[in-house]
Order: sequence, then structure tokens, then C-alpha cells
Amino acid sequence: MTRAGVVGWPISHSRSPLIHGYWLERYGIDGVYDRHAVAPADVAQFFRTLRERGMAGCNVTLPHKEAAFTAAVETKPAAKAAGSANTLWFEDGRLIADNTDAAGFLNSLLAAVPGLDLAGKTVAILGAGGAARGIIFALLGAGVGTVHLFNRTRARADAVAAYFGAKVQAHDWDNREAGSRGADLLVNTTSLGLHGGAPLGFDVASLKAACIVADIVYVPLETPLLATARALGLRAVDGLGMLLHQAVPGFEKWFGVRPEVTEELRALVIRNIEGA
Ligand SMILES: NC(=O)c1ccc[n+]([C@@H]2O[C@H](COP(=O)([O-])OP(=O)(O)OC[C@H]3O[C@@H](n4cnc5c(N)ncnc54)[C@H](OP(=O)(O)O)[C@@H]3O)[C@@H](O)[C@H]2O)c1
Repeated sequence: MTRAGVVGWPISHSRSPLIHGYWLERYGIDGVYDRHAVAPADVAQFFRTLRERGMAGCNVTLPHKEAAFTAAVETKPAAKAAGSANTLWFEDGRLIADNTDAAGFLNSLLAAVPGLDLAGKTVAILGAGGAARGIIFALLGAGVGTVHLFNRTRARADAVAAYFGAKVQAHDWDNREAGSRGADLLVNTTSLGLHGGAPLGFDVASLKAACIVADIVYVPLETPLLATARALGLRAVDGLGMLLHQAVPGFEKWFGVRPEVTEELRALVIRNIEGA
């Protein structure tokens, strides 16, 4: 039997077991995917002993994504760009780390907007944390022309722009509306809009009519940003697609089948979110 799981602190909120459990059943795989609550003081030792624990690898969530990056012998380019990893697996006995949020975001976007060509497009990104870094890496790989990056802590946006080079331009947070006017795609990567938290505060009316609005927050599924975008007739892409698509590479590495993100899986996770 193949074992994998998700490691975090706390971990009870994670929806990864629901997603991987669905795929294990769908593909009739003799495998287990469970939760591991590991305190920060113990996480380095946990990663060092993954194989002794009988695990083929794991997903990693807060606050251990940087520790996972450090623990690996080899880190993939998306993980390097993000400075963090959410997926670990073994190749020839060596621990490999990737950040699948990057490809997860892009694949979710392409699934939601079939035929979308990002070449030369202008993108506005709100937030400059780990998720933003992964998303910028993926968007640059897809050929976008310019990324305007708005972050509350300007120095963090400057650091991200310096890492990626001239296509990424850092701006003050207060300029986010005026500076997003020409964007073809706007992505909220901050935690603003999360259920029970502070609102984002972004006037969607300042965007072009053709601008696609994406939010990586998925609780609630329809954030106020997405709701106002839809109400104005803009195309809106929710964060659940990213969550589902980021899970694909890990499942394939551990269990040997590239799983499909189905409408049935999406509905299963939506029921879980709405019941929470
Ligand atoms: N859909 C998915 O699959 C998926 C995947 C990964 C992450 N996420 C979600 O994405 C969000 C960000 O994750 P992360 O890992 O990038 O977190 P992070 O590294 O902690 O970054 C958080 C970002 O939010 C900004 N922010 C927080 N509070 C703010 C406020 N009151 N006003 C303005 N900006 C504020 C931070 O700005 P400062 O730099 O100024 O602090 C920073 O840019 C989280 O809600 C996470 O759950 C979703």
C-alpha cells in the first residue's frame, strides 16, 4: 500500500484528504492519504524520516512550506521562485520539492477560460507573499508581458520584482486601482476577502470590461471581489480551481496516475466548504 498525506500545524482544516481520497477511490488505488499535525520544532525531523514512516511523499501546508523547501535535496524552479514547497516526493531515494501552486493556478485559469492566450498580456497582482511568487513564476512562463505588483509592504513587492526582473514592476498598495486599469488579468493573492477577515477594498469598476478577475481565496467560494466582478459582467475565476489543480502533480508522483479534476470533485469540495 502506498502512503502519502498532508503535513501542517494545525492540519484539521485541510481539504487535501478529501481531494486525494476521492481520487484514490475513483482510480481504485490501494493507497492512504492522511493528515499529520506536526509542530514547527519537529518538522525537520519529520521530513528527514519520511521514508522510515513508509511515506512516498507528502503535501505541506502552513507553516511548514519553507521548511519543506529546505529539507529537499533538489528543488524545482517553481519552488525556488516561491522560496517554499507544498509537495515532496522521492526520486532514486532523493527527496524532491516542488511548489505546485504555480501550475495549479495556471491550469485552473486555463480550465476556466478555455483558449486563453496570455502571451504579451498585462497582469495586476495584489499581494507579494509566497502564493504571489508562484503565480508570477507561472504567468511569466506562460508569456505574459508585464506584471504590476501591489503590496501593503512595499519592500516585499520590491524584493519580488528584483527576483523576477524587468517584466515585474512593484507599486504602492494605494495605487492598486489606478495601476490596474490596463490589466487583462487581475489576481488577488492576499488573504483579504477570506471568510471572517478584513475586506479587500478594490473597486472593480476601474478595470477594463475584458479583464479577467481571479481570486485565490476560496472560502467563501464567491468572494466579494468575484461577486462584484461578475455583477459588472467581468469574467471571474475562483480559488477552488487552484486548490484542486495544485493537488494533481503530487497524486501522480506518489500513486502513479495523473488524476482528473472533475466537476464531481469540485462539487464534493464545495459541499465541504459550505458545510464548514
Ligand atoms: N487557492 C489555493 O489553492 C491557494 C494556495 C495558496 C494560498 N492560498 C491563499 O492565498 C492567500 C495568501 O497566501 P500566501 O501563502 O501568499 O500568504 P503570505 O505569504 O502570508 O502573504 C500574504 C499576503 O497578503 C497580504 N496581506 C495580508 N493582510 C493584509 C492586509 N490587511 N492588507 C493588505 N495586504 C494584506 C500580505 O501583505 P504584506 O506583505 O504587507 O504582509 C501578503 O502580500 C491565503 O489566503 C491563502 O490561503 C490559496
